[in-house]
Amino acid sequence: MARITPDNVTPLRAGMATANLLSTAPADDQHIPFIDLQAQRRRLGKRIEDAIARVLNHGRFVAGPEIDELEDRLSAWCGARYTISCASGTTALSLGLSALGAKYRDAVFVPAFTFVSPAEVIARLGCIPVLVDVVEDTFNIDPDSLVRGIQMAEEHGLTPRGAIVIDLFGQPADYPALQKIATAHGLWLMADAAQSFGASLQGRNVGQLTKLTTTSFFPSKPLGCYGDGGAIFTDSEEIATEVRSRRQHGQGDDRMTHVRIGMNGRLDTVQAAILLEKLTILGDELKNRDRIAARYAKGLGDLVDVPSIAPGRTSAWAQYTVRLKRTERDQVREVLEKDRIPTAIYYHTALHHHAPYTGYPRAHGGLPVSEKLARTVLSLPMHPYLEADLQDQIIERFRTAIAAVRGG
Ligand SMILES: Cc1ncc(COP(=O)(O)O)c(C=O)c1O
Repeated sequence: MARITPDNVTPLRAGMATANLLSTAPADDQHIPFIDLQAQRRRLGKRIEDAIARVLNHGRFVAGPEIDELEDRLSAWCGARYTISCASGTTALSLGLSALGAKYRDAVFVPAFTFVSPAEVIARLGCIPVLVDVVEDTFNIDPDSLVRGIQMAEEHGLTPRGAIVIDLFGQPADYPALQKIATAHGLWLMADAAQSFGASLQGRNVGQLTKLTTTSFFPSKPLGCYGDGGAIFTDSEEIATEVRSRRQHGQGDDRMTHVRIGMNGRLDTVQAAILLEKLTILGDELKNRDRIAARYAKGLGDLVDVPSIAPGRTSAWAQYTVRLKRTERDQVREVLEKDRIPTAIYYHTALHHHAPYTGYPRAHGGLPVSEKLARTVLSLPMHPYLEADLQDQIIERFRTAIAAVRGG
């Protein structure tokens, strides 16, 4: 097993590729954005500028009144009792893991097909990420692989402590099945809802599906700010108190008393002010995303594997990701690129193939689905302002690209 030190843990920012795909220009015939943040800005008009100006005027750039207001509004939105805003989704994962009591050398399970953040924070805390496989058609953690991971960890003398469950591309994972396994083995579940804030499972919103949920407000997320940001949701007063303290240097009853090891993990007031405006249109944006996903499914479902949403779940559609044949994915992407249709590959490398993670334990049975997905997935432009005629062009060009590749 690899020994993880600050030197050999490279903070991989595969997600930064998203940033490069964000549009700063309006859509036109020459330029189809992968994610069009400017369209959202136009819709909000001067509201964002006014919100920022209010912060500039009151001058409470750290812990200003917008922070409390945002936390209250997010709790009301998703139904969690407590929301604690923080500096990023990664900060939220780190604060959350500490609050759940993850200890040095504990085994914490994490899917191998994902963004690197969850595994990174497990390793940074001195715990052992145990990589488990995912289900091919939902991209989410496979409950059977989790059971095999727990067996493997126990056989190797590790202490299974909990699992970070990631709602990949926007769809909540199979929490009922996962919770049964967690309860049987005395594990906690922490939900990483960086991509799924706004989604639901059996009528319950993401934020209420586990003891502790984290999210990210990275600009391209379904609810994104104009910089970095994140939050933790919980119904537990104890967890909320601990997270608040750790977010602020482990503060006790007063600012200069420190009762635990903490960090500066706060969200800036300006970002909270921006999020407050964006939150007012999130519900409507989610409906648009649903409509766009349905149009893709109708237009492409006969040619490629389109995402399947399990019964009783809704997705926040952070990404619209199709699956192609291994032999054709890269060729199709190349044809689309020439045709000026932007696509992205989330994720082209499963975690255990990134250098710092090669030595970590894997569930019995290996990670074949994660490996297969890394070679077959392709994400298409997805944002709430993708107009039907532009989307039809994307669909048509995609169909032409597939035909060209399949035709020889
Ligand atoms: C699944 C997942 N978890 C965690 C993160 C980390 O969020 P942040 O970039 O805000 O630290 C991301 C961001 O891309 C993500 O997609």
